[in-house]
Amino acid sequence: TLPSRVTIWEVGARDGLQNESVVVPVSVKLEFLARLADAGLSVLEATSFVHPKWVPQLADAAELLSGLDARPGVVYPVLVPNERGLDRALEAGVTHIAIFASATETFASRNLNRTLDSQFEMFAPTVARALDAGLDVRGYVSMCFGDPWEGPVARSQVVAVGERLLEMGCSQLSLGDTIGVATPGQVESLLEGFRDVSRLAVHFHDTYGQALSNTLAALRCGVTTVDSSAGGLGGCPYAESATGNLATEDLVWMLDGLGIETGVDLDKLVACSVWMAEQLGRPSPSRVVRALSK
Ligand code: HMG
Ligand code: MG
Repeated sequence: TLPSRVTIWEVGARDGLQNESVVVPVSVKLEFLARLADAGLSVLEATSFVHPKWVPQLADAAELLSGLDARPGVVYPVLVPNERGLDRALEAGVTHIAIFASATETFASRNLNRTLDSQFEMFAPTVARALDAGLDVRGYVSMCFGDPWEGPVARSQVVAVGERLLEMGCSQLSLGDTIGVATPGQVESLLEGFRDVSRLAVHFHDTYGQALSNTLAALRCGVTTVDSSAGGLGGCPYAESATGNLATEDLVWMLDGLGIETGVDLDKLVACSVWMAEQLGRPSPSRVVRALSK
């Protein structure tokens, strides 16, 4: 059975823009977020409070947050890797944060400058303080299916990392196919490894064109929160084989067709992505954006 409603966790402004070779001006980011909210998206992952040298594209996080419109029903989660990031995020007045863990040793080192084990020493005090401050904390796990340096990743390794984040107090766990290699059977198998599917979300990059099939498999397993990025922007600067996320338009087209509610106005969303593509100077890779903007 399929859910009657899906929450779309829109990551375009964060996962999308962190991977652009140019730094997008704050004013453009703010207009992008406003257009996404106008299109009916209610969870807009806005930016990251990471080290500005690691991700210069998002070094303007504080300025961006101070320019955001407070809109009823819209939340703006941000990525926070450590206590320094949390301090900056609290100062900016955030209500929702996400920590991001790696399922593999190599990516923990490349993305976080930590070992697989020592990443938790960074997250534990960060999550504890965030919960004390009344914030909602999401946990990501990256490289859930394959890793560009280590190859296929064992399900047990992903589940062990994920369950630790849930035990720390993360309200939701987003399972990331960072390099977009998964296929639907693997998605089913991974989801079955967790005790409580209601706390899981999925985060597919579309490198091999499998993101939508993988999403459908996850919905059939009971997942009701799906990450995607408007226009299919995205990637990870610390994983060279990562391309864009599942495009939100491709997702909404499928969900509309299945009669699953999202609250998103597809025409407005396509217009937003066409506008953003003009700002970035290249067309959106989303098939649905291309089909609907001819
Ligand atoms: P580090 O060098 O080990 O940091 O980096 P450190 O703790 O040793 O601190 C060194 C200095 O950096 C200190 O300054 C800190 O204050 C400062 P000093 O005392 O030397 O003057 N510092 C900071 N400054 C500002 N903001 C901060 C911060 N932290 C430390 N937050 C660190 C460790 C985690 C900071 C670094 O590795 C980092 O920023 N990594 C982020 C990488 C990233 O953003 N990757 C992309 C997001 S993950 C992703 O895209 C995957 C996802 O989409 C899911 C999927 O697709 O799978 C989520
Ligand atoms: Mg990602």
